[in-house]
Amino acid sequence: MRAVTLASRPDLAEAVYAIPYPADSPRFMRGDLASLLVRGRRVAERWPHLVVALLDGERPVARGIMVGFTAARDARPRFPDGGWDEVAVWAAEDAMDGSEPDTACALEIAVHPECHGRGLSGEVLAAMRSAVAAAGLTSLLVPLRPPDKAAEPGTPMDVYAARTRADGLPADRWLRTHVRAGGRVEGIAWCSSTVQATLARWRAWTGLPFDRDGPVVVPGALAPVHVAASQNVAVYVEPNVWVSHAVPTR
Ligand SMILES: CC(C)(COP(=O)(O)OP(=O)(O)OC[C@H]1O[C@@H](n2cnc3c(N)ncnc32)[C@H](O)[C@@H]1OP(=O)(O)O)[C@@H](O)C(=O)NCCC(=O)NCCS
Repeated sequence: MRAVTLASRPDLAEAVYAIPYPADSPRFMRGDLASLLVRGRRVAERWPHLVVALLDGERPVARGIMVGFTAARDARPRFPDGGWDEVAVWAAEDAMDGSEPDTACALEIAVHPECHGRGLSGEVLAAMRSAVAAAGLTSLLVPLRPPDKAAEPGTPMDVYAARTRADGLPADRWLRTHVRAGGRVEGIAWCSSTVQATLARWRAWTGLPFDRDGPVVVPGALAPVHVAASQNVAVYVEPNVWVSHAVPTR
């Protein structure tokens, strides 16, 4: 496997973004408004040096997407409760204002479903750290979404993330992959991604009735979705885990 960035291989952008998610991935995350600010093509054009791909021959089989933002601005907290969404907004703000980035934030790591379970995610992480160093940025932050947390949406994220195995590594496999790669768990981003939508949209995304007030368990969601049936809305507030990775000095 060879790692490249879109800065060196802009011709691969389409194929890199075409790496699919597993068929059972939740559809409702597309309702996260902040994600519109950092859509694929926009990131590929503004931060091509922060979009990493692993190539099997010439075929992209994994991607790691990052944005740059100015951590040292406006008294921004280091690990905001607003997690993924908040950094997406900061990155867009900084881009509009011409503020020079000093930090990278990972938005996504995806491995082609045909290549899952082969240790590629660790290789993507290593390539991301190298890309961050090459860009002259000082750190890499990750509002980490542990997909397996969907198996127990009712467990608070801090309780889930604190679970360890006998060898001291996190019990969750995705957290474990990051910690094994040198990542440090820094805290919880309690409101990392928020999806608010009408009941009709939720029904279309999930096939569930959404006809009663209260929390609803939705496949793929890391926490319950809160329904206000008489108000015709439901809101999902996804918690993530803040992880920081040291960046090699150049
Ligand atoms: C999460 C993801 C990136 C992992 O990539 P991967 O290359 O398949 O993972 P790896 O082969 O490096 O394995 C990482 C760990 O997970 C474990 N693992 C892999 N597949 C597993 C499975 N189906 N069930 C349980 N554990 C599994 C591995 O054993 C390894 O843990 P270990 O080293 O302690 O044994 C991949 O599943 C993916 O792209 N998912 C869709 C996108 C996504 O959810 N990204 C994360 C949020 S942005």
